[in-house]
Amino acid sequence: MDSKELREKFICFFKERGHRIIPSSSLIPDDETVLLTTAGMQQFVLYLMGQKDVIEEFGTRHLASVQKCFRTPDIEEIGDDTHHTFFEMLGNWSIGEDKEKGYFKKGAIELAMDFFIKEIGLPKERIYVTVFKGEGSVPRDEEAISIWKEHGFPEERIGEFGMEDNFWGPTADTGPCGPCSEIHYDRGESYGCEETCGPNCEKCNRFVELWNLVFMEYNKNEDGSYKKLSQKNIDTGIGFERLVSLLQEEDSAYETDLFAPVIKKIEELSGKKYEENKKEFRVVADHVRGSIFLIADGVLPSNKGVGYVLRRVIRRAVRYKKELGMKSLRDIVNVFINEYGDIYPELKEEDVLQVVEEEEKKFIETLQAGVAELHKKMPKASNPKEIGKKLFLIYQSYGFPFELSMEELEKMMPGAYNNAEEIKKFFNDELCRHQEISRKGMKEKFGGLSRNAENEEIKLHTATHLLHQALREVLGDHVKQMGSDINKERLRFDFSHPESLSKEEIEKVEMIVNEKIKKDLPVEKKEMSFKEIQREKILAFFEDEYPERVTVYSIGDFSAEVCGGPHVKRTSELGRFVIKKEESSSAGVRRIKAILQP
Ligand code: ALA
Repeated sequence: MDSKELREKFICFFKERGHRIIPSSSLIPDDETVLLTTAGMQQFVLYLMGQKDVIEEFGTRHLASVQKCFRTPDIEEIGDDTHHTFFEMLGNWSIGEDKEKGYFKKGAIELAMDFFIKEIGLPKERIYVTVFKGEGSVPRDEEAISIWKEHGFPEERIGEFGMEDNFWGPTADTGPCGPCSEIHYDRGESYGCEETCGPNCEKCNRFVELWNLVFMEYNKNEDGSYKKLSQKNIDTGIGFERLVSLLQEEDSAYETDLFAPVIKKIEELSGKKYEENKKEFRVVADHVRGSIFLIADGVLPSNKGVGYVLRRVIRRAVRYKKELGMKSLRDIVNVFINEYGDIYPELKEEDVLQVVEEEEKKFIETLQAGVAELHKKMPKASNPKEIGKKLFLIYQSYGFPFELSMEELEKMMPGAYNNAEEIKKFFNDELCRHQEISRKGMKEKFGGLSRNAENEEIKLHTATHLLHQALREVLGDHVKQMGSDINKERLRFDFSHPESLSKEEIEKVEMIVNEKIKKDLPVEKKEMSFKEIQREKILAFFEDEYPERVTVYSIGDFSAEVCGGPHVKRTSELGRFVIKKEESSSAGVRRIKAILQP
């Protein structure tokens, strides 16, 4: 069965059974406590928690979707048979119970069995299931066990596991979660390790997990405890790539129709064979696909948060592409757009190619400088401490991330990976020391203000914070600082936004800033932990390591940003804020120049 047919079959199956089909949401969730959409349930979190009324919004409790997802597992694992950054998840939901009756464990299991066995014809004798065995305050799932038995599964095909395997969620520190039941498929003895092996075997991949049915009736609280939600929900997910591989009898998605045209293209461009260079082919294919989907959802490469995820995957794709001897990623991008563009039109709407190519150009420059430096410095570095320190220097001067340095190092000194943890520790020590020095020096990290900043510069710096927040209010939360430069005369602020601002938008931004200045808001400084920053959704711009504690400046309750300062004490010191110019800075980045008048 080809992948398009499988998507359609899934959608039709649930539509015919009274489910409303909900389009995929963006890879960037509304929910700021998580970075990325990692599961189909992400767009339904508030409904699952009973905080929003599902009937009011969707007219039914029964929903299904094919959702774009992005996970950032250990990136080293990409290239094996099963890990992907971007993937699609097929899912169905029954949210809450009253008014119109929803289904719970029995209904969910019945639907899953019907789809797998009757609809797509998986042989039942190959199916094994797992249930929650009980752990902590959550009891053994007797109900699920007896339902599976009613479906004819003997005890030996119902595996029982604890929190680690059979309890799902939440996606953030807190949120909806619950015990789950997984459906595994037995690919046969030839994949196995020994006769007694079964689902979740760590030694072999004979059993593949296909469908996760989550019985979502708990909420995890901040103190780590689980409390029953006011309603019961079903949340399910099938890893689409995995099911496609199974149906097409391939070991990985890279060999299925999802990737076939791209693999063929890479062979053509590199003159190399997939079979002989699997890892490189797969990394390029996975990362290019992941990148273009992130870009299509409005992400731009940067040094923080999801922008950093994008930067890393593009840069890794470039490195592996180089290893394959390919000139450009352009054709690969185009093949993917062609393959996925009808289902996800956003791929055609954004100029994804331009973003990939600009990032590639920047990276090549950094890479050249970084590798040269690494080769120069490393022969003299002998132990993990020395190496960690040197890698930090390279990171500091060239922005050469730790992981990439380690990969380069492994090539120069095979076996370096064995000490990776220790090296990382010394790298981090160096990083902390460096941060401490910058904090003490009150050095502004991103605005470039020095301790001796003139009064005018300090004022403009505070105005920059007001501007940043005002832009977010007028244009939306996608606005993020991309750069800042201040001198005595003016501020210059670069931010992510796809198009030029209208006259009205500029006036509105100006007005908001001036209003906040007039209100004479206090500017306050606080030390916070990284966790607190995330919890309070404070704007932060980091390089690729997150420091333990940071300084946050808040302006009344209008703005709060991680920053080294310095700032004025109250906003009334600023005078009048005037935007002088709004222009493009680079693809997807706008630039504002503004001044303060007495
Ligand atoms: N939310 C569940 C998962 O991602 C279904 O596995």
